[in-house]
Amino acid sequence: MRHFLTLKDYTKEEILEIINLSLEIKKDLQAGIYKEELKHKTLAMIFEKSSTRTRVSFETGVFQLGGHALFLSNRDIHLGRGEPVKDTARVISRMCDMVMIRTYEHSMIEEFARYSKVPVINGLTDSYHPVQLLADYMTMIEYGIAENDVVAYIGDGNNMTHSWLFLAAKLGFELHIATPKGYEVEAEVLQEALAFAKESGAVIKVSNDPKEAVLGATIVTTDTWASMGQEDEKEQRIKDFTGFMVDDLKMSLADKDAKFLHCLPAYRGQEVSEEILESHAEIVFSEAENRLHAQKGLMVWLDRHRD
Ligand code: CP
Ligand code: NVA
Repeated sequence: MRHFLTLKDYTKEEILEIINLSLEIKKDLQAGIYKEELKHKTLAMIFEKSSTRTRVSFETGVFQLGGHALFLSNRDIHLGRGEPVKDTARVISRMCDMVMIRTYEHSMIEEFARYSKVPVINGLTDSYHPVQLLADYMTMIEYGIAENDVVAYIGDGNNMTHSWLFLAAKLGFELHIATPKGYEVEAEVLQEALAFAKESGAVIKVSNDPKEAVLGATIVTTDTWASMGQEDEKEQRIKDFTGFMVDDLKMSLADKDAKFLHCLPAYRGQEVSEEILESHAEIVFSEAENRLHAQKGLMVWLDRHRD
């Protein structure tokens, strides 16, 4: 049995297998074919943070696969009142067939997975957002991005950045990351990614210079400057991130056909300008749609890999 907690636990072949399965499942859906691979199965979805895309895509995805999703907000279950994670894990995993969790500390999801009898999927922690990257890479494939293309990430060194690092390092593409000083990616995550990059041939460049980072990029991406849980830092961050907005100038330095990705929700006038988000370069709504298809692919893959 496999969990899906970070991309570092997956090989290049496995990541591509999941994405190829997702592309097939998407094609089936477009042709009106519903293969009920999760018939009679339930997915428990534990949300300790807000969500639009993750909730809707998982819930819809399970339904389309013939199963049922349970939305469990920590305001409603005993986890939020102090029932231990390990007890919650043992109870839920005796009743449900898969669990998706969106939470704060990554260690919570690791503990849950240790005690779970069924696959656990990371639907975002403070450290990683791996399901988003499945959808992102699927979108890149659909838009004809080749393996030798360059991705530039401009912004906060956060859960998205960490996930981009592992995706690039595992798949072997070139990734430029530019963060303001003091907002760099975690040193330990960078070291791990660089070790994987040595094996895959990925080129990873980290700097504090957004203009340099976008040079030659075929994909430019960013994320909110204040993630969930950092609301109190928002004002300070807006000041500290001056010059890091993805705007016309930055896009003009990238490849002329460069596309713009963003996991959403986006804050116009902060990490991205209104013009870029509404321009011909944006592929963010295809990216958002692919959350549905990529997670269906992931759930089917995990289900097929059970003992
Ligand atoms: N990108 C993403 O995970 O969106 P939600 O927070 O709406 O789920
Ligand atoms: N970095 C953002 C991603 C939202 C999908 C957050 O954690 O809030």
